[in-house]
Amino acid sequence: MSIRPQKPAPATPAPGRLPITELAEMKARRQPIVMVTAYDAPGGRLADSAGADLILVGDSAAMTVLGYDSTVPATMEEMLILTRAVTRGASRPLVVADMPFGSFQVSDEDATRNAIRFVKEAGADAVKLEGAGPTLDRVKSIVGAGIPVMGHLGLTPQSATKLGGFKAQGRSAEAALALLADARALEAAGCFSLVLEAVPAPVAKRISEQLQIPTIGIGAGADTDGQVLVWHDILGLYEGRVARFVKRYADIGQDIRTALEAYADDVRERRFPEEQHTYAMPEEELAVFERAAGASEHEREQGNDRRN
Ligand code: KIV
Repeated sequence: MSIRPQKPAPATPAPGRLPITELAEMKARRQPIVMVTAYDAPGGRLADSAGADLILVGDSAAMTVLGYDSTVPATMEEMLILTRAVTRGASRPLVVADMPFGSFQVSDEDATRNAIRFVKEAGADAVKLEGAGPTLDRVKSIVGAGIPVMGHLGLTPQSATKLGGFKAQGRSAEAALALLADARALEAAGCFSLVLEAVPAPVAKRISEQLQIPTIGIGAGADTDGQVLVWHDILGLYEGRVARFVKRYADIGQDIRTALEAYADDVRERRFPEEQHTYAMPEEELAVFERAAGASEHEREQGNDRRN
């Protein structure tokens, strides 16, 4: 009797979660996949109630919520806390944890151990890794452990220095062909989907057509199988320079500033709190309290006089 190698069992989705196989079916139906980043439980809840299919706990958190000026400093511990918060808030969307710089570069073992932490300790459904090349073996190793992996090509912010800054990738025929080859290699390594960031639209279109797995674009035109944007960019919460591909759907940053200024004015002008914001107590209890507090104040003053 021959023993066939077992395919690793994928992580079991929580009840109510979108089955990961649905994403390939959405691609086949040409139904656009909606992904958005989120970094906390309210964000997870809101993205879920807005109907997102995928939530990415991006290492963009380093810049959007942790105050760094690049994604590189994000640590495993920080990303675990944020991912845990998001999975507490989101029920239906699949939650993808972004593996931070340093968590998968050293070895397959290290990468797989860290991916397992995202699933076991933070409830992630999948992880995302940037790049191809040495990342391909990491992908195979993590997928081999039963954890779905999303790839990420094009502008990969963790290696922005090597890429010459935050700029579009694949703009020469040679670079576009290299992207296509890397995309195919990531699919062959077992990725269930692929983010394409800051890539010319025709290149992203061709890659999307040639892959079986869904592509999720950010700055990659309208022909990828899905789109992703960063929470703070969509909502107008990020104060730094935003990329050309960002569409802002709200100006929550300005709304927050206006609300905080109004609160500060109210406090300074003693308009807040008002009667409806305070707690009452029964009259008779108040009277007893006032008498006793007055008496103890009197005793304290007499004690002070004696000491002087
Ligand atoms: O970290 C992130 O938010 C990302 C998206 C921009 C794809 O990687």
